[in-house]
Amino acid sequence: MSATQPCSFVIFGATGSLAREKLLPSLYALERAEKFHDHLRFIACSRRDWSVGEWREYLMERVLTKHGAAIDERCLRRLAERFDFVSGDLHDPQMYAALRDKLGSSIGAGCSDVVFYLAIPPADFFGVITQLHDAGFSAHNDKGSRHRIVVEKPFGEDLASARRLNAHLHGYFNEEQIYRIDHYLGKETVQNLLVFRFANTLIEPIWNRHFIDHVQITVAEEVGVEGRAGYYDGAGALRDMLQNHLMQLLSVVAMEPPASLDADALRDEKVKVLRSIRPIPRRSVSNYALRAQYTAGQLHGESVSGYQELEGVEPGSTTETYVAAKFYIDNWRWSGVPFYLRTGKRMAEQVSLISIRFRHPPQQLFRETPLENIEPNWVVLALQPNESMHLEVHTKKPGLGMNTRRSRLLASYRQEHETASEAYETLLLDVIEGDRSLFIRFDEVEHAWQVVDPILRHWDGDTGFIHTYPAGSWGPDESVRLFDSEDHSWRNEV
Ligand code: BG6
Repeated sequence: MSATQPCSFVIFGATGSLAREKLLPSLYALERAEKFHDHLRFIACSRRDWSVGEWREYLMERVLTKHGAAIDERCLRRLAERFDFVSGDLHDPQMYAALRDKLGSSIGAGCSDVVFYLAIPPADFFGVITQLHDAGFSAHNDKGSRHRIVVEKPFGEDLASARRLNAHLHGYFNEEQIYRIDHYLGKETVQNLLVFRFANTLIEPIWNRHFIDHVQITVAEEVGVEGRAGYYDGAGALRDMLQNHLMQLLSVVAMEPPASLDADALRDEKVKVLRSIRPIPRRSVSNYALRAQYTAGQLHGESVSGYQELEGVEPGSTTETYVAAKFYIDNWRWSGVPFYLRTGKRMAEQVSLISIRFRHPPQQLFRETPLENIEPNWVVLALQPNESMHLEVHTKKPGLGMNTRRSRLLASYRQEHETASEAYETLLLDVIEGDRSLFIRFDEVEHAWQVVDPILRHWDGDTGFIHTYPAGSWGPDESVRLFDSEDHSWRNEV
């Protein structure tokens, strides 16, 4: 099956890390899966003073590095040949004039859809949006415009700047043209969470405060900042991960069943969750959130230097590479249930888990296994790697006596022969086909900023101290102070 729409797809920041790591390998995967219309064309824009031939060499080398021996060279070449290249500065009108020329021929040939993908540092969003308008690509210039603009996260750097960016975008583009990406929504396991919750009747009756004690959402990364210190040192884990990816996970875990799976029905329910999160009073931020930065350590037996030693990090920086936070959702379903969220770089393992702990049984019947030793039930959803769902229950230990032990019911998401698609494959195809259901509506962004803004403001005003954790560990010991109860602790494994 090929994509329904011919279109021109412009990538700003084509030689940046996002394009290199995610976009180009995903475009190759889509090409190999024959998802592209014959008239789909790409234009890569970058400051490099390259010919189109040099760009194509670069692209092929990047994809080869990522996909390795399994590459289908014919597909890779076909993808490379779809590309044109425009060299220039993002803030230079001449670059947009050159882009116009390149686009002119495809638009003239009946391909009126143009996608502009801003794979660039957030600081450049404003300027590029204005330049696109000045060059005649906004809805103002072309009333029947089917152009689309894709904006990467973080959308703004706090509530006020997100609102400014949104107003700026809306000055030139209609909401239907705007695609705000959070690639976690493109992950199949996140979509699987919807299926788990809403296609299994046995889950829904227990998915609430009467049965659930607390929820943990962990996104632990072994990787560090990987050459992005220039952006990351000004952002930190709260803006880079928690405000968007973890908040999206939280809203999918906690939302009410939507009326349908269409874009707005889903987003309405997610927004209701975000709006119900109890605001964190600025004076008690430290009871709800904790930040830390990694120092030198050992990761799988290899020495890793500390964050402060990275090139591009300000000396004495208090940017957090780890954040843990506790939220309460003040609604009927979740009242009183803590949601613990944490994410960090250079942690002991690369693992993303949603762990749901159920309540203790109300009565102690199994005297030889005292209640304190019986761990409550857990449902653990492993998002990556090894996508799976685990249910931990108790069974009787064989033999005399009434002893219990923990058993696990495992549902692997994938069978051995099945492959999952990368989040960006799904999302890129959706952009090309004009499907916005997995993209973020501005009120979601706005409410997520509203939740984290008090934490941001508190930390921005306190640049003197930050907790630390050694690279290769599970984060700072102090994070346990967020727990409501002594029998709460971080769950690090499936
Ligand atoms: C990005 C962040 O949005 O997500 C990165 O900017 C982070 O810092 C990445 O490493 C994690 O994505 P994934 O898909 O590897 O979990």
